[in-house]
Amino acid sequence: MLQTAEFEFLRRFVLEHCGISLGDHKHQLVQGRLQRRLRALRLRDFADYCDVLRHDPQSELGELASAISTNVTSFFREVHHYELLENELLPAWVAHKQRAGDRLRIWSAGCSSGEEPYALAMVLAEALARNNSTLDAKILATDLSPQALATARKGVYPLDRLGGISTERCRRWLLRGTGDYEGLASVHPQLRELVTIQPLNLLHDWPMSGPFDAIFCRNVVIYFDQPTKQRLFRRYAQLLPVGGYLFLGHSESLHGINDDFELIGRTVYRKRG
Ligand SMILES: C[S@@+](CC[C@H](N)C(=O)[O-])C[C@H]1O[C@@H](n2cnc3c(N)ncnc32)[C@H](O)[C@@H]1O
Repeated sequence: MLQTAEFEFLRRFVLEHCGISLGDHKHQLVQGRLQRRLRALRLRDFADYCDVLRHDPQSELGELASAISTNVTSFFREVHHYELLENELLPAWVAHKQRAGDRLRIWSAGCSSGEEPYALAMVLAEALARNNSTLDAKILATDLSPQALATARKGVYPLDRLGGISTERCRRWLLRGTGDYEGLASVHPQLRELVTIQPLNLLHDWPMSGPFDAIFCRNVVIYFDQPTKQRLFRRYAQLLPVGGYLFLGHSESLHGINDDFELIGRTVYRKRG
C-alpha cells in the first residue's frame, strides 16, 4: 500500500524533478503504476522506493516519469502538422538554406518511442530528394524515458503500429522483417542518419545551443504545472530565430502562458519579431 506521506513525497519529487503535477485523485494510479518498478528493483514496499529516490534522484527519474505519465504516440499523429511542414515550410527552407549554405535543424522534444522524429525524417528526406539537396539537415530527438529511447534507437515497430503511414511511404521507408522478424518493420537507414536520439530531461540544462528552425513539443506538457510550462516555452523561444516554429499537441496552448509566439494554425506557433 502506498501511504499518504509516501504519495506526498512522490508528488513533490515529480513536480520538482520532472515538472509533473499530480492531483490528489492520482493516488491509486501512482500505486498501481509503480508496483512494477518495485518488483523490478526487488523492493519490499513504497517506503524503500522513496529511499531510492532520496539517495539517488537521477537514477530512477526516467523510469518513474514513464510509469506515471504516458508514452502514447504514433506515426503522423496530428497529420496537419506534417502537411504544413511538407507543403509550406520545407520547400521554403530547403530552397533558401541551400542558397545560403545554412543548416536545417528540427527538434522533437519528448519524442517517446521515435514515431514522431521518424515521421518527420520521412517528410524531410522527401523534401531533400525533390530538390536534389545536399543540405546539412538533422532532427534531434530527445526524451526522458529510458524504455522509450531504447525503442526509438531500435527503430523497429510492429506492422499494426504503422497505421498513420501511407502505403507509398511504407514501401519507401520501412523494411519488412522476415523469419524471426515477421510482423515487424525497421526504419530505413536513410531516416536513421537524419535522426539523432539523446536522453534529455526538459527541466534540466540543455547541451545544445540551437538555433532550431522548428521545435515539436507535442503532448508533453499536459502534466506540467504552469510555472514549468512558462519556463520551458521561454527557453524554446531562446532557441528559435524570429519566424521559427513551435508545434504543440492538440490539447495544448500558449494562451495566457507565453507571448513570444503568435498562433498561425492548429497548435502551430511562430516566434514574433
Ligand atoms: C505522450 S508522449 C508524446 C510523444 C510525441 N511527442 C507525440 O506527440 O506523439 C510524451 C513524452 O514526453 C516525455 N516527457 C515527459 N516529461 C518529460 C521531461 N521532463 N523531459 C523530457 N521528456 C519528457 C515522456 O517520457 C513521453 O515520452
